[in-house]
Amino acid sequence: MERFTFTGHDDNPFLQGPYAPVSSECVLTNFNITGRIPDDLAGVYLRNGPNPKYNPAGIYHWFDGDGMVHGFYFQNGTLTYKNRWIKTKGLIKEQQQGKSLLPGVFSTVSPTETKDTANTDIIVFNKRAYGLWYRSGMPYALDPVTLETLGIDSFSDTLHAPISAHAKVDPLHNELRVFSVSMKPPYLSYGVINEEHKVSHWTPIELPGLRLPHDIAITTHYSIVMDLPLYYIHAPKGLRSHFDRSLPARFGIIPRLGSTQHIQWFEAEPCYIYHVINAWERESKIEMLVCRVTDPVPPLEDKASDSLHSMINFLGKTLKTAQYYYYCFNLKTGSVEEQPLDSRISEFPVINQRYMGQPSRYSYHVLLDDVDLPLFSGLIKYDYWGEYTETVMWSKPYVGNEPVFAPRNNANSEDDGYVLTILTSCHQDQSKLLILDAKKLTAPPLATIDIPVHIPIGFHGCWAEMSQI
Ligand SMILES: [Fe+2]
Repeated sequence: MERFTFTGHDDNPFLQGPYAPVSSECVLTNFNITGRIPDDLAGVYLRNGPNPKYNPAGIYHWFDGDGMVHGFYFQNGTLTYKNRWIKTKGLIKEQQQGKSLLPGVFSTVSPTETKDTANTDIIVFNKRAYGLWYRSGMPYALDPVTLETLGIDSFSDTLHAPISAHAKVDPLHNELRVFSVSMKPPYLSYGVINEEHKVSHWTPIELPGLRLPHDIAITTHYSIVMDLPLYYIHAPKGLRSHFDRSLPARFGIIPRLGSTQHIQWFEAEPCYIYHVINAWERESKIEMLVCRVTDPVPPLEDKASDSLHSMINFLGKTLKTAQYYYYCFNLKTGSVEEQPLDSRISEFPVINQRYMGQPSRYSYHVLLDDVDLPLFSGLIKYDYWGEYTETVMWSKPYVGNEPVFAPRNNANSEDDGYVLTILTSCHQDQSKLLILDAKKLTAPPLATIDIPVHIPIGFHGCWAEMSQI
């Protein structure tokens, strides 16, 4: 399976090198392995990301590609790898016509004309995998074993609005906490999908304008939504953003099954946040760790609104001010404490998902290269309780991807398990999957598995245990 080059996009880095898409689907079971796959690693690592099937119409951005899921299945020391496109309505329509039909997010005039690619995130809930989109779309259900697209899941006709990527699986209540971003008022809604597989709660959250929040946080009794001062306006050439430093970052804490009138809003220093690490309750306070972007750059200025360079520059610069950051919201006094916890630039954080919404100590982030493109040069393990960090850097021609934490069978502590990460080659049609001991990240990998195909760098993934799929 080789990388694929489209004609007419030679100057677009998001279609070359580590970003280049692959042209086919495959299943592989034989690999060269240095080291050994641990016997107590059992489950699947699913990773979603953009992989355009047809030659893109207009300017192509990394965010635009059709969602493709890469699955790594581990059992009894063996691995099966497979990859499949998410067969969205948009992709099926394009397949019927044999060509790309809609322009990308940075060249479309109307946001409603953008294709829902389901390419951003993948979660496993109630034995199904779901491909989710950062602009909010109806969730695409996938068979977590075969990766076959089962189609849009409306949860027995109870889901009547699209939901965003980064819906949170709450392991305590076995439910899904979701948010929905809309282009029109109320701009944000919040809901819960319960273990009976139905929407059990839904409430609008009126924001002052179009904000496009990217994530939420959950705790046992609350969810935290964001109204950050990076806002969007409809301009003649599509959506344009503006960061207003005179406005606070607002965090809305809503009871898990609460409605809009129950939200308690907290104001903090202006920023943007792509990704939450985790949040939890401590007495009458809520603590939250995030990767906080101090200086989000407006994506496209008027003069260069359709310039490829401007578009690329935006993403690299935006991510390059992301830092490990702490918030504490006092529910009794309404006060906020906030502070950076490290000066290094890190993003795409993951935790042991069993600790979602509960006090947790460790997180694993990618480190960013000092180049304009968002390329990941290493991995860092943070210990929230102390000064301890561990970093691993990748060497050329490989670049990193968001990792995942996989608990060992019968794990007895938060970091008792493995960190898995894909390494993508910048110019060869081969990749690696590393299995690292989460307690000794800097030790040689327990297994380095040569994957004899190109795996483009992508967005988000998850780990699902055998009992969950
Ligand atoms: Fe994201």
